Amino acid sequence: MKRYGRVRSMSEEVDWDSLTFSLTPTDTMYLTETTATEPWMPGSLRPYGAIPMSPAAGVLNYGQGLFEGMKAFRTSKDRVVFFRPEENARRMQRGADRLKMPPVPESIFIDAVEQCVQANIKWVPPTGRGALYVRPLLMGSGPVLGVAPAPSYTYLVYVTPVGPYFKGGVSAIDLLISEDYHRAAPGGSGGVKAIGNYAPGMMPSKKAKAAGFAEVIYLDAETHNYIEEVGAANFFCVKDNTLYTPELTGTILPGITRQSIIELARHNGYDVVETKVSAEFAMGADEAFCCGTAAVISPIGSITKGGEKAVYGDGKPGPITEQLYSHLVGIQNETEEDLFGWLHEIPL
Ligand code: PLP
Ligand code: COI
Repeated sequence: MKRYGRVRSMSEEVDWDSLTFSLTPTDTMYLTETTATEPWMPGSLRPYGAIPMSPAAGVLNYGQGLFEGMKAFRTSKDRVVFFRPEENARRMQRGADRLKMPPVPESIFIDAVEQCVQANIKWVPPTGRGALYVRPLLMGSGPVLGVAPAPSYTYLVYVTPVGPYFKGGVSAIDLLISEDYHRAAPGGSGGVKAIGNYAPGMMPSKKAKAAGFAEVIYLDAETHNYIEEVGAANFFCVKDNTLYTPELTGTILPGITRQSIIELARHNGYDVVETKVSAEFAMGADEAFCCGTAAVISPIGSITKGGEKAVYGDGKPGPITEQLYSHLVGIQNETEEDLFGWLHEIPL
């Protein structure tokens, strides 16, 4: 395996201060393959680029695929770290069970993401100016015609430097509650990162953006009352110094950032309630934010439902949102102590 010394150059092709959440092709990706019956074996690095695939691949025809999203941070201690990568490995394993794919062992998952960051080290942004987004993919790549699991599978990792997920950086975003569309239904695949969960959200999201909103909030598909998620991020609101977040019912993605915020907030002395959060309750809250690997903690400035608009504070991030944001980002940048042992150093 190629190892890199402590003195590492950063790419001069990137203007780190203009990074958005978009694809910048990097040098190297990782790939390994297996069949439905053989164990996974460690794969190898290769130049970033297109992969050959059968037109009858399970992933192309029936959406048998999962992805993960994680970030590598260059910290103030001149280390490069992941944030809780074991959680991504485990979530992908649960997703693999749900989509009838062979789960990638945690050791192979972690080795792959580490190797990919090491090989693309020059693309890791300077401290506080973005992160290297790491995208593991697991897919049924072998050919299959009947609706059935593919005969073979590919686990692939690529990376790209990213900045803020929402336009305007960390300024508060305006969200629209979707009254016509849902993201997930009970018994479906909403609780795993199935690739097929995302395309159905594109049309509602585009419509909301055309109307001036940053993203949509989805309600539950049964009662249409309770908030589930914000596009591809989890939802929190704050009322009377208590945090509320939708409980995990199987239709919501169990976000690693969500879980970390629950732990951080409790550590900072706040009560956190995982419960059903009605749109009405959220619209009467003091603060609201959404969170995820890509979204980090994004303050919500307003929520609109039908003709009603709830504005939080004066459209600026609320104090508890700010506090949690600084604490989380501080841990990731190593300007705050890693109290919970969440950081995973990538050997360089
Ligand atoms: N919800 C959805 C639908 C997502 O795609 C993501 C992104 O991964 C999240 C929530 C946030 O999860 P995490 O904090 O693990 O990135
Ligand atoms: C993430 O936060 O990593 C996501 O997966 C969100 C989105 C880019 C799909």
